[in-house]
Order: sequence, then structure tokens, then C-alpha cells
Amino acid sequence: MTTRKTPKTPRKAAEPKAAKAAAPASKPRKSRQRVPKSTDAGADGQNPFRAAMRRTRAPEPATLVIFGVTGDLARRKLLPAVFGLWQDGLLGSAFNIVGVGRQEMTDEQFGDYALEALKTSKETDAPQPGSLEKFRELLYYEYGEFGEDEVYHKVQTELDRAESTHGGRKNALFYLSTPPSLFEPISNGLGRVGLQEEKEGWRRLVIEKPFGRDLASARELNDAIHRVWDESQVYRIDHYLGKETVQNLMAIRFGNAIFEPLWNRGYVDHVQITASEDLGLEGRAGYYEEAGVVRDMLQNHLMQLFSLTAMEAPSAFEADAIRDEKVKVLRAVKPIPAERVPEVAVRGQYGPGTMAGEKVPGYKQEPDVKRGSRTPTYVALKLEVDNWRWQGVPFFLRTGKRLPKKVTEIAVVFKRPPLGLFPGGLERNVLAFRIQPDEGVSLKFSSKSPGQEMVLREVVMDFRYDAFGAQLESPYSRLLLDAMLGDATLFPREDEVDHAWQIVSGILEAWEGEDAPAPKFPNYPAGTWGPDEADDLIGAGRRWRRL
Ligand code: BG6
Repeated sequence: MTTRKTPKTPRKAAEPKAAKAAAPASKPRKSRQRVPKSTDAGADGQNPFRAAMRRTRAPEPATLVIFGVTGDLARRKLLPAVFGLWQDGLLGSAFNIVGVGRQEMTDEQFGDYALEALKTSKETDAPQPGSLEKFRELLYYEYGEFGEDEVYHKVQTELDRAESTHGGRKNALFYLSTPPSLFEPISNGLGRVGLQEEKEGWRRLVIEKPFGRDLASARELNDAIHRVWDESQVYRIDHYLGKETVQNLMAIRFGNAIFEPLWNRGYVDHVQITASEDLGLEGRAGYYEEAGVVRDMLQNHLMQLFSLTAMEAPSAFEADAIRDEKVKVLRAVKPIPAERVPEVAVRGQYGPGTMAGEKVPGYKQEPDVKRGSRTPTYVALKLEVDNWRWQGVPFFLRTGKRLPKKVTEIAVVFKRPPLGLFPGGLERNVLAFRIQPDEGVSLKFSSKSPGQEMVLREVVMDFRYDAFGAQLESPYSRLLLDAMLGDATLFPREDEVDHAWQIVSGILEAWEGEDAPAPKFPNYPAGTWGPDEADDLIGAGRRWRRL
């Protein structure tokens, strides 16, 4: 073991722009209170839409311990997110980061590494003069093997050292930003040294996706984690839940009286949830060849969008009340055993094609992909929900790589009017939530075209999120702050993850099982909207939205 090349500087609390007083030690908050009273709107003479952005929450002094800090996610997303929160004065009066990795580095070298990461990431907020150097003072680094105790003792020493500037508390958020195979060894290692015990401050564990690779391994991972941690300490992250417009889905559904009466089988014909990506593999073959689109996007991000769209109103805007409703609707999904898969699911893999006028390789031609790869890069799925609200209303989910553009959208497609009074066809109204880009909500309906004739045409009423005049927060900033505040509302609970795996299990079995027929891949050229079979899936009289 090599010793440190440079001695540590004494830990101090670098001051962000508007550091707030440390909040008193308290139990984790149960509900969020970030929308001010309506009387606040416009009180400062500014854009009234911005009034709700005032921050009311500051976490207690804490240390963020990032395992796998030299990895891609930490470099591109986490460090910029933490820097943005700190620079905005949202991390309380005292805060430190301990990066942990297997690579040998001094604190100074880690400081250089982190600053370089901040300078090169597209997600970093513009730094104020001197703020990068001040942020650097918060950074510490430890290295070691995650299977051995030594590295966890070093983390313990870091928390002890922070105690004096952290008001005598040793609050810690352990973020596992590592390959999934390390989740259990790190959780166990923290447990062996007693770092999960909350005697001297809160202790929380944030776990990245994918949480398991199938139902059985997700259950094993949950059991292993629960041998060390209480469920209330565990924050499974799904960054889609940190997206402002995903949260807006709940706001629009349950903060308005006009939508809820229509939100059922009486009025809704079907729902389409699309997460299309124009990008291909981006050098992630090692991970993606193992995961494929079902584990990468469907089991987590799309199931979250589905459950938020289909769930019942919670009794309160509290973590468990919301998660209970999400679980209920996941449980109501009609099971998809392997033999039903050909009826309800379509898979695809992109071949060579053209994107924005440029030729791009097919999946099998991407670096490090096996030439005979059966990994799907596209999936379309029909979900049926066996409950009173949704009986007979199909939910169509689709996601894929190398589709024509990046769009994430939830579209509620209403039934046609019962009687055609006017010439021309009867169109369906559509309420569409654009999660990204051009975040907003639009309602499509028919209107009379100007002129002598009674001719109807479709028009769109559009609300754009940019009316708020603010840049949307990165999902990681939002979720990191929530985890530090002990607010688990936007983190999937154990049973949610379990039910989402149950829904996709049959699909994995049908496509990956020993008797699974070989897929006819590639079956869509890059730059197109996926395989033709997806059109058959949505069925006669309906069509996928052109986005
Ligand atoms: C990640 C997946 O979870 O989500 C990626 O691993 C995918 O493959 C990404 O590209 C999409 O996220 P976003 O926020 O860009 O829609």
C-alpha cells in the first residue's frame, strides 16, 4: 500500500454563494413543500412563473461518498450536479465529498481530476469567479479494493474528520456509481465496518441502475442490501424521476380538476409512451451487450413513466403514499408469460442507416459488439391493466436507439366523439406530455377552419416549459438533493422494482431462454422508427404518433 504523497489539508467548510444555516437535526421529511403560496407569485416584480423556484430546503451538514468516482457517470453527471447544487448554495452550511476508487490518487490529484471533469462536462453550470477552486477544497479521495475492509475504515476516518465542521454530526450519503457487480460487495463492506449505523448521524445508500439483471438477481440484491440496511435508508435511483416534466405529470393530473374525470376507460382510447433516442452505443458496448434495451430502458425508465400515468391519486403527496399507488398499478398489469410475448412485444436491432444525412454503422458493426449479437436495441410493448379504471385501454410503450430523433413523450389518446356532425373524419383528442426536449404539454383538438364551410381541422394548444424562463435542473441535482434531505418520493421502492421485473420477466425468458428462436436482426435501419412489426402491434385503427 502506498502512502499519501501529499498531506491532507485540514478539512474546512468552503462557502458557497448563499450558504444557508444548517438545518437542525430532524427526522427525514415526509413531504415536500416547495411550491409557495399563490400570493407569493410575482411579489418581487419578476416573472410570476418563477416564484415557485425559490428554495426552501437545505440539508444538514453531510459528506457525500461516491464509490466509482472515476467512472463515466460520476465524471459526466454526478460531479457537475453536485457542483451546481453547491454553487447555488443548496448544500447547507458544511459539505464534503469523498471520492472512492480503486485507482491510486492523492487528494490533490483527485482535485485536478474533478476540476477537469467539471470543465469538460456539458452539464456543468457556468462557474462563478473562483468557485471551482473553492469547490476543490471540499474534495477528498480514498482508494482501495472494494472487497477488503481497509477502504471502508478509511472512509470512516474521513467521516470522523468531518465531524468538527459538520456540527458534531456524521451524516453520510454513500453513492454507488459502480458496475452493478460491486453493489453487493460495497454494501457489505460498509456494513462490516458499521458505516450503515445511524448513531451519529443519518446514513443513506444510493444505488444506480440496473438493479439486478432479472427478477431473481434483483431479489437477491434486495435481500443482500437488507441484511445491512433498513429499506428507509436505501435510495434506488432512476434518473427519469428527477426530470422536471416527469414530476409535472403528477402535478397536472392531481393539481387540476379537469383531467382526472377523463382519465379512464370511459374517455381514453389508449396511451402511448415513447422514449426514442437518436444516439447509438456511444462506446458502451461492454455494458449494453449484457443489458439490451429491456434492462437498460424498459424495466426502469419506461415502467416509471407508465406507473405515474396509470396510478390512482395518492392519499397524500408523500413518498410511501405515492409509491403504494405505483405498486398497485404495476400489480394490476396483466401478466406476460413467455408464450404471450409474441402477441404483445416486438424487438428490434438497428442495422446500418442514415442519420441526419450521415451514414452510420449498424449495431453489429459498432466497436466491441459481437458479430452475431442478439441484443435488442428496440422494444415495443402492449400493456393491459386489469383494474376498473383501465380495463380495455391498452398502454403502448416503445423505446429504441438510433431512431430518427431524441424524444420522450407520454400521449393520452382520447376516444373519438360519438357522432359525426361535421364533414370529414372524427379525430381523436390527444393530451401529450413532452418530457424532453421542448418540455411542455399540448392538447390537440378539432376546430372550425375559417371560411364559409363548416370544415374542421386539428389544432394544438401548447404549454411550453420555457414560459418559466429558467433552465431546468439536471435530474441528478434534484435526486441528490432529495436523498440528502431524506425525501424518497422520487426513488423506486423495493416492491416497485420487483413488480417492474415481474412484468418484463416473461419477455426476457422468451427472448433469451435456451429455446428462444434466433431473432431476425437487424430489422430496422438506423434513422427509422423501428421494425414494421411495431405497427402491427398497435393494431388497426391506431397508429404510432409521428414525433
Ligand atoms: C440511461 C441509459 O439510463 O438513460 C442510456 O443507460 C440512455 O442508454 C439514457 O441513453 C437516456 O437518458 P436521457 O435522460 O438522455 O433520456
